[in-house]
Amino acid sequence: MRLDKFISKATELSRKEAKKVLHASEITVNDQVVKDGSLHVDELNDEVMWAGETLSVATGNRYILLYKPEGFECTLKPKEYPIVTELIAVPELTSLRIAGRLDVDTTGALILSDDGSWLHRVTSPKHQHEKVYELTLADPMDEAAQANAVEKIAQGILLEGDHEKTKPASLEFIDETHARLILTEGKYHQVKRMMAYFGNKVIELHRASIGGITLEGLDKGDSRFLTEDEVAQF
Ligand code: URA
Repeated sequence: MRLDKFISKATELSRKEAKKVLHASEITVNDQVVKDGSLHVDELNDEVMWAGETLSVATGNRYILLYKPEGFECTLKPKEYPIVTELIAVPELTSLRIAGRLDVDTTGALILSDDGSWLHRVTSPKHQHEKVYELTLADPMDEAAQANAVEKIAQGILLEGDHEKTKPASLEFIDETHARLILTEGKYHQVKRMMAYFGNKVIELHRASIGGITLEGLDKGDSRFLTEDEVAQF
């Protein structure tokens, strides 16, 4: 957030009055006097002070994108593995919930928030948000097997133990053992079970994006807050 906006949100000052206290060298950010109201401040991590008082704004809900590495569990209570929230450096971690869990061995885009109704909109199949998965198969599939899988997945398949077919989805082969699968729902172990339907096994799985939000600029284990536009699209 811009510093002048931050000051007026954190105090009773208008944006114009905030500019005045800035010009009067009354504001410090992380112990440095700052006069430029357009400076970007991080509401959670930067210390903004005015007349010896630390200023803070109500941050409201948090919306976070994490690049989940393998070996972390998407759960609140650790069982066998460390949990994904250990990778995120924000306060009140226990209030965060996950939109669409990933298996321990799956990597990729994971969205967390403390806004329950928003999380529901991200995951609900009603809203048709696409999740793009990149997968590696144990057994090569020839052209005929690929064409059969693409067609069946486009129509929907009945997975073992389910009562309803999967929603129509798009499968695209890159080569005989690599494919991209686009889903608009998130059943339990869905990708692995869909490929098991064709007698195959997924040996590597990565979620490249959720609703068009990609991991661009993040390394494994990194996280960032979603932008206002990204939050608003769900
Ligand atoms: N489908 C799976 O089988 N595993 C995941 O982690 C995500 C989707």
